[in-house]
Amino acid sequence: MAEPTKQNWRRADAYLAETLVGHDPALEAVIASQEREGLPPIEVAPVSGKLLNLLVRICGARRVLEIGTLGGYSTIWMARGLGPDGEVVTIEAEARNAAIARANIDAAGVGQRVDILVGRAADVLPTLEGSTPFDLVFIDADKESNTIYLDWAARLGRPGTVIVLDNVGREGEIANGRSTNPQVIGTRDALAMLGSDPRFDGTALQTVGLKGWDGVAIALVV
Ligand code: DHB
Ligand code: MG
Repeated sequence: MAEPTKQNWRRADAYLAETLVGHDPALEAVIASQEREGLPPIEVAPVSGKLLNLLVRICGARRVLEIGTLGGYSTIWMARGLGPDGEVVTIEAEARNAAIARANIDAAGVGQRVDILVGRAADVLPTLEGSTPFDLVFIDADKESNTIYLDWAARLGRPGTVIVLDNVGREGEIANGRSTNPQVIGTRDALAMLGSDPRFDGTALQTVGLKGWDGVAIALVV
């Protein structure tokens, strides 16, 4: 039996991606563009991108909200899961990232289904109030603001809206109640909110693989 080392997680994850996701020139181009432009390689892993795509399809989403666009990798995965009249609204704080994402998303052929809003999500989210409720919300931005984003996900959703929150494992640091890392604190606060706020019902799965040891929370607005 293989030892649970980082190298072996990566090998197993690469195998799963190869077997279940396959080669994807448009998405590989996003990763290459992020590398070329100096963006951090913190997009979701291929198997997780596929999970987002499947969740969009499983819940029959027509309107998806993404908080944190980066180079558009997860945006493309989700946009591909929508029907022709579906839309991803994605919020990106950095104008330069948004421009890179715009080019990547257009090149992937889903540009007509993606609206990129540039600005700090805490400022942009209130402007979406009163629009058609979102069916799925993917939160993958500054972890310090996770509880603000969860609150907005509930307000901009409806009963049945699916929420996906990235990076809830953080190499196990999530279990460290004494952590002074603002990202860990923000994520612990968000998980506590999912566990105690009556608007949500959720769970979380730890993940290992190409992106190290981390996790993803999945919740429903009830
Ligand atoms: C970080 C952020 C992410 O969204 C991620 O998937 C991995 C790392 C980070 O800020 O370190
Ligand atoms: Mg992330």
